[in-house]
Amino acid sequence: MEPVLNTQNTQESVAIDRILENHCQQAGALLPILHAIQDAFGHIPDSAVARIAGALNQSCAEIHGVISFYQHFRSEPAARHTVHVCQAEACQARGGRELTAHAERVLGCKLHEHSPDRAFGLEAVHCLGLCASGPAIQLDDRQHARVDPARLDQLLHQAREA
Ligand code: FES
Repeated sequence: MEPVLNTQNTQESVAIDRILENHCQQAGALLPILHAIQDAFGHIPDSAVARIAGALNQSCAEIHGVISFYQHFRSEPAARHTVHVCQAEACQARGGRELTAHAERVLGCKLHEHSPDRAFGLEAVHCLGLCASGPAIQLDDRQHARVDPARLDQLLHQAREA
């Protein structure tokens, strides 16, 4: 098992080096570097932060600050599925708040967190263009309108089984 981990670490290290080489001379290099690393690994591994800081002559705290400022960047691998629940006004008026509370209860996590088994990430979204038929959600790449708690349970079950 250990050699596999070392191989993965080496591959990760080589990939991070390549990204740093490609971007660190450009102006405003930090964001392109973070995007490239997240594209490559699905998140920003902890091991990358010190190396980015060293390459850009910044502190690790500064790099962590930028990662946590932008909701797009993740410090941990993403959940298998992502549920976006619309938080905008039209959906809120049609039960969006209750649907969000239900999602948090059944998934065992708050917005911007993931379920303990990492099956689902729960995110807020501000309008999916389905305002007349809210509450609306997006589960991975599919949007769903008029989602009540029972329908959400059904969609989550289907995603788990897929
Ligand atoms: S307000 Fe929810 S889809 Fe537009």
